[in-house]
Amino acid sequence: SDRKYDPYRPTSFDQITRDAKDFCQELMPKPEEETRKLALLQKLSDIAVEVFGEAEVLPFGSSGNGLALANADMDVCVFLNPKEGSEDVSPVEFVERIGDRLEKDPDFENILQLKRARVPIVKLNHVNGIACDIGYQNDLAIWNTRLLRAYCRVDERVRDIVVIIKIWAKRRKINNPYTGSLSSYAYVLLVIHVLQRQGVLPNLQTIVAANGKVPFWDCQGFNRYFFEDIPNLSHYWQPTPESQRQSIGELLYEFFRYYASEFRYANHVVSIRSGGLLTKEAKEWTKDHTQPPPLQQQQQQQQQTLVPLSEAPANDTEQAQSAPAADSKPVVKNRYLFCIEDPFELNHNVGRPVDRYSLFTIRGEFMRAAKILSRKGDGVITRLCVERE
Ligand code: GTP
Ligand code: MG
Repeated sequence: SDRKYDPYRPTSFDQITRDAKDFCQELMPKPEEETRKLALLQKLSDIAVEVFGEAEVLPFGSSGNGLALANADMDVCVFLNPKEGSEDVSPVEFVERIGDRLEKDPDFENILQLKRARVPIVKLNHVNGIACDIGYQNDLAIWNTRLLRAYCRVDERVRDIVVIIKIWAKRRKINNPYTGSLSSYAYVLLVIHVLQRQGVLPNLQTIVAANGKVPFWDCQGFNRYFFEDIPNLSHYWQPTPESQRQSIGELLYEFFRYYASEFRYANHVVSIRSGGLLTKEAKEWTKDHTQPPPLQQQQQQQQQTLVPLSEAPANDTEQAQSAPAADSKPVVKNRYLFCIEDPFELNHNVGRPVDRYSLFTIRGEFMRAAKILSRKGDGVITRLCVERE
């Protein structure tokens, strides 16, 4: 094969694979947890109908894509079907009305109405132990959840690998977009990219069942088409024989090795919708920039000449440094240090919270992980996922 010389490559992956499988078994949510989630979903659905009339509540994120760990939060999204002629409910109004109704129900605790977030949501805890985020009319989130679920159904190994990467990222404290690291969603995209390279996964967004071109199925201006008929996938795509032989251990090692020493952070963009890599130049993802609210634009431009952007604060929702007007919205910062293209929202860098400090930490963790997996001995996965202080 054309594999590059790798002095650290383990000679056998059997031990890693065995450890990984045991580890996954423990982290799977129990059926009892699924039951509690379904009950909560039903309850939220009843409440949404009561408040808004016609309403549908759909799970997304890990509770919708089959990639949940035990005790994971539940993300749900409410869709309304307002009657002809009636006025649309704005996101802020939605948060207020459903939030106020939930306040009256003793089954819900710690209710937070996040009206000014980039995407307004209600956060709460249900007395049955489940934490839940309630969003509003986010079609793309539902579609990318379904895309991820489809990839999971292509090959059993996807789930196990994702579960280990998620727990590793959480324990190593590099799974928090608010502090400059990556969301779970970003890690799943990174895994799919590596598995596409290895021939384990196809590019579902370019497979077309009927002869012809890839159709354009509009969703908020983006193409949400992908091949979803996984039971019939084999008529259109076959995994390589080599990829079928690769164990979970080997694929995990490949994941870490790739991001530790092959992926070129300075030039490359991970793109699962193109089945490979794009360049930052081709996407014009070369300059970090801010998106100030229109009224503040001038003030912001002045500020940019004073403060180099690379020194700007890391946080996604951080306020501008010079005292902003009292009613100003947060300034959104887009960085292009770690570039991960959203599969549908092609102008969205899912890795945009990453700044140069957190990138250093994350790359260090990839290297640490590859090194640990290349050593022999029991309990490699436990060592891999040791809590970082
Ligand atoms: P855990 O909550 O850690 O179990 O992971 P998760 O699979 O629920 O992923 P996460 O909470 O990171 O994201 C939830 C969902 O938000 C994703 O499945 C996407 O549907 C949606 N999403 C879309 N764009 C973004 C993005 O840029 N960042 C994040 N965090 N989520 C996004
Ligand atoms: Mg989630």
